[in-house]
Amino acid sequence: MTSIRFPKEFAWGVATSSYQIEGAANEDGRGESIWDRFSKTPGKVEDGTSGDVACDHYHRFREDIALMKSLGLKHYRFSVAWPRILPTGRGRVNQPGLDFYGRLVDALLEAGIEPFVTLYHWDLPQVLQDEGGWTRRSTAEAFAEYAGVVARALGDRVKKWITHNEPWCASMLSHYEGRHAPGLKDYRAALAASHHLLLSHGLAVPVIRAASHGAEVGITLNLMPCEPASPSAADHEATRRFDGYFNRWFLDPLFGHHYPADMVADHIAAGHLPPEGFTVVKPGDLEAIAVKCDFLGVNYYNRAVLRSDKVPEAQNEPRKVFVAPEKDWTEMGWEVYPDGLRDILLRVHLDYRPRKIYVTENGASYSTPPGADGRVRDEKRLVFLRDHFVAAWRAMEAGVPVAGYFVWSLMDNFEWDRGYSQRFGIVWVDYKTQQRIPKDSALWYRSVIAENAVQVP
Ligand code: FCB
Repeated sequence: MTSIRFPKEFAWGVATSSYQIEGAANEDGRGESIWDRFSKTPGKVEDGTSGDVACDHYHRFREDIALMKSLGLKHYRFSVAWPRILPTGRGRVNQPGLDFYGRLVDALLEAGIEPFVTLYHWDLPQVLQDEGGWTRRSTAEAFAEYAGVVARALGDRVKKWITHNEPWCASMLSHYEGRHAPGLKDYRAALAASHHLLLSHGLAVPVIRAASHGAEVGITLNLMPCEPASPSAADHEATRRFDGYFNRWFLDPLFGHHYPADMVADHIAAGHLPPEGFTVVKPGDLEAIAVKCDFLGVNYYNRAVLRSDKVPEAQNEPRKVFVAPEKDWTEMGWEVYPDGLRDILLRVHLDYRPRKIYVTENGASYSTPPGADGRVRDEKRLVFLRDHFVAAWRAMEAGVPVAGYFVWSLMDNFEWDRGYSQRFGIVWVDYKTQQRIPKDSALWYRSVIAENAVQVP
């Protein structure tokens, strides 16, 4: 066994999000979100379920915090549900909603767990969607208002803020690929949404800083290392496009480089943008988006290996194929590729130089159930996490300033369009009884945190 030691202050944590765990969809004045609407639209969620009850965390948060404490966790990333705070998106504040997060934060601090708060993990108030949602500039302004309300209420106790989780998903996956709420298939809408999401980040950062003295503020992107399936020029071209679509479209403007010119040109050529270009971008927007942040959050799950024959020229459609053998896939159909984490961390560090990086999500879907003795032997998840921790450490050895790591997820939960069929938790949830059982991976993670080191065979 080799012992891989992490720096003293390294932040080990777990992550969740509001719609995926809270339940209590109609309680204490919560408004409807686009995920309530979407999940209740037949055919949108694989198993026909919704987050109405989920893990019932809204009622069981004290139990869940006690569980985290028993696992030795010192950092917890969760999100605030906008429709609990502003049921109509802007204007009237719903005090019971704010009070819930106040109680949650107090209970965390009492348990010695530092809260990392994500303001937007996809549950947009439906009323804002009815006005056009993220395709409208007014939604970016509403987000800044919402961020201010939350930061003023919690900012004395919360000192780590993440404006957005995965704007690629909130724009492209949900407005162009149609797989997430609001379920559109419109590239123009997706591009407008991406800009307003980034703009809302830029508007919110100073608002949060003003309300939460000494806070660190950042944004979380989901990133994929991209590589061509062959040395052919065509596969390289497919890789440029997919990298532009998935990574650079978000990284470039956040780090002051404007939207990538090659992508803008492609979009104009394909008719996704008018000949005048990306006209939703107004004077001052790019400066606002490039506001200096304290950290970048990176969510990593897998890589993309690009083949030109999967990228129809005419439609400019990015498509990816994974070349890994089937045995190396998780139940999401995602390839297990730990080196990709090291690669993407190095690339972000070299190309963009964020002050600090947190891996804000990484984890695996395996549905291993409890055995007859009640124990959940999720060896595959344990190995998955171990190998990814080592990959992050390798990036750190090469100079990448990684400050912490949040496993997705604390517990099994509502996995968006895949419903409850996918289990990412290190804690098993029995949805009938709401019983929680720490899996073997959770018990192993407890020892990693305690030793601040990973043992590798
Ligand atoms: C990420 C999401 C998170 C979860 C994981 C599996 O894209 O941020 O909510 O669904 O994937």
